[in-house]
Amino acid sequence: MSKITIVGAGNVGATCANVIAQKELAAELVLLDVKEGVAEGKAMDMMQTAALCEFDTRIKGVTGDYAATAGSDVVIITSGIPRKPGMTREELIGTNAGIVKSVVENALEHSPNAVLVIISNPMDTMTYLALKASKLPKNRVIGMGGILDSSRFKYYLSQALGVPASDLQGCVIGGHGDTTMIPVVRFATYNGIPVSRLLSKETLDKVVADTMVGGATLTKFLGTSAWYAPGAAGAGLVEAIIRDQKKVFPCCVALDGEYGQKDLCIGVPVVIGRNGWEKIIDLQLDAEEQAAFNKSADAVRSTNSVLN
Ligand code: LAC
Repeated sequence: MSKITIVGAGNVGATCANVIAQKELAAELVLLDVKEGVAEGKAMDMMQTAALCEFDTRIKGVTGDYAATAGSDVVIITSGIPRKPGMTREELIGTNAGIVKSVVENALEHSPNAVLVIISNPMDTMTYLALKASKLPKNRVIGMGGILDSSRFKYYLSQALGVPASDLQGCVIGGHGDTTMIPVVRFATYNGIPVSRLLSKETLDKVVADTMVGGATLTKFLGTSAWYAPGAAGAGLVEAIIRDQKKVFPCCVALDGEYGQKDLCIGVPVVIGRNGWEKIIDLQLDAEEQAAFNKSADAVRSTNSVLN
């Protein structure tokens, strides 16, 4: 059985832990936070659901004690501040870059063989930073954004069509930003039927626009960023790794010429298994989609340049 660590016991980290425990993806799950007692308290609260939800995963909460995370197969990084209403994810870089870099170094010191999953924002840039700081093989560093954005895309499609989201297929590629993500309408289907046959162009345009600001809409409602879908999306990615499922998810990974981009971490569909991301799937974008992808890549690259 596996061991999983989640760094950051805020809303996203704790929700991710809860879903992982309920799915019993690991024998041991360590929740680490810098705020004294928070991870301990949340871990104990979750453990008190074990009898009710019938799971055997042992969740342990620790304050800054990286030794307790030793030997983890997967380390999920959610650390850093979330955005407030009106803020973009990119505005978090000043605070979060330093935090993510030190978390990566501390975590790898104790779990040198782990696959890293990055959720902290601005996610694409934090993934790039984690890759550079860790010097890990590129397949072991995965940013979680596209799975969440795709789930939101399916939600908005399901609302427009009046069908369950689980009957919809669709993916969002590009950056995980309000203006950088690309819901790829051409490949979205309702059980194999292209959604463009079922919805008007006007409705589809609205679905795309709503998807792109999906996170910002929730931040406005909640006063902070969302956690149920981000946490569940992180757990879905971890499940594919731990169970070696070879599922295809849009994830933020290092491109080396694929999709016409180099030296950049950005969202594309990849096959996920025990060793991290194993293969990039080429969607064969048309000219308009590729232009949108290039524009998204330029924006992510410009956020990355702030790292220097
Ligand atoms: C969101 C944040 C977690 O999209 O990026 O809700």
